[in-house]
Amino acid sequence: MSVDPRTLGWLARALTHEMSAVQQYLAQSVLARLWGDEKLAVELRHEAIEELGHAERLMESLIKLGVAPSAGNLPPSRLGRTAEALLAADHQLESDAVRLYRQALAHAERMRDSEATQLFADILREEMEHVAALDHMGAGELNA
Ligand SMILES: [Fe+2]
Ligand SMILES: [Fe+2]
Repeated sequence: MSVDPRTLGWLARALTHEMSAVQQYLAQSVLARLWGDEKLAVELRHEAIEELGHAERLMESLIKLGVAPSAGNLPPSRLGRTAEALLAADHQLESDAVRLYRQALAHAERMRDSEATQLFADILREEMEHVAALDHMGAGELNA
């Protein structure tokens, strides 16, 4: 089966994003625990595991296409001095995810690639929920 190289590119870019998200949420969870904020630490760790699930789904697609998953260089985790600063950084991360998956989805639709379309649409919906959850916590305004 021949695979469109640009679709592979979107899968690879998405994987790099998800691994960065895992790193950021896990690092923030560790930081929150060091602050003694166990509730925030648990929430952030839960987010890291959700993003790991996205990475896993992208890896499954790549492996089925015969490509060994390889996340690119991960950007440094964005930390902060307060819970609000962490959540603002996460709002940025999730907004970037929505933008990335919208573009990836548009490409997969143009290529009439039903599997990639389904995958990108599913993850996009969850990333939009992540943005909405952070908006609900007031993180969006801190970012403006
Ligand atoms: Fe994700
Ligand atoms: Fe997310």
